Amino acid sequence: MDKIVILTGAGISAESGLGTFRDAGGIWTQHRLEDVATPEGFARDPALVHGFYNARRAQAARARPNAAHRALARLQAGWRGEVVIVTQNVDALHEAGGATGVLHMHGMLSGALCAACDHRWPAPMEMFPGTPCPACGALRARPDVVWFGEMPRHMDAIMDHLDSAGLFVAIGTSGQVWPAAGFVRDAAAGGARTLELNLAHSEISDAFDETREGPASRLVPAWVDEMLGS
Ligand code: APR
Repeated sequence: MDKIVILTGAGISAESGLGTFRDAGGIWTQHRLEDVATPEGFARDPALVHGFYNARRAQAARARPNAAHRALARLQAGWRGEVVIVTQNVDALHEAGGATGVLHMHGMLSGALCAACDHRWPAPMEMFPGTPCPACGALRARPDVVWFGEMPRHMDAIMDHLDSAGLFVAIGTSGQVWPAAGFVRDAAAGGARTLELNLAHSEISDAFDETREGPASRLVPAWVDEMLGS
């Protein structure tokens, strides 16, 4: 069972300058998630929600992948089996660091979605309530991200990968949002060994066979070196 399944959260992008959500000063201490990350919030005030994602899109455009993102790409290239990266992050730093086939279960900042006809297109740097859908013209454009109360993406594929994983590794996630928080148990039930790499003890640390504490930019390259025997 040489398949490695990796789940990443905001912590892997923290050292690239992108905020996490629940750390001190995190995004959910600056904005009410009910206002900016739910369908109800978008219906109530689309301009506020577009402003929130426009700011995050601009910040993500300035960010560069760090050593952790690059190390995971190196693992994909050098490992004898499949390495599947599942991310809760909506930035594209895994891809910028060279990773491929990344499953973005919460969507991506770089995508736009029409709430009227489900058309998807590359998001402009800034979107507004008056941004028309290129396909149907409706003024119902939204960020192509998954809000609270909506179904995460690629779940069938993710569950299949977890069931056939030999090793499951969670990197930089607090384990407070489901269904991602349950992946460690799903993988273990399928016979996988489990490892957590995180700056601090998390809500799900006790569910792992092994946990290592430290910044992702140090822990992930060291772990990849171990795996590749270099
Ligand atoms: N290196 C490693 N881990 C880090 C670092 C770092 N430099 N900095 C922070 N962390 C860890 C924190 O210890 C914490 O466990 O990253 C985690 C960040 O947790 P959250 O802010 O809750 O982010 P995440 O787990 O990705 O949130 C999941 O919640 O709000 C939703 O959709 C949003 O995808 C997000 C989901």
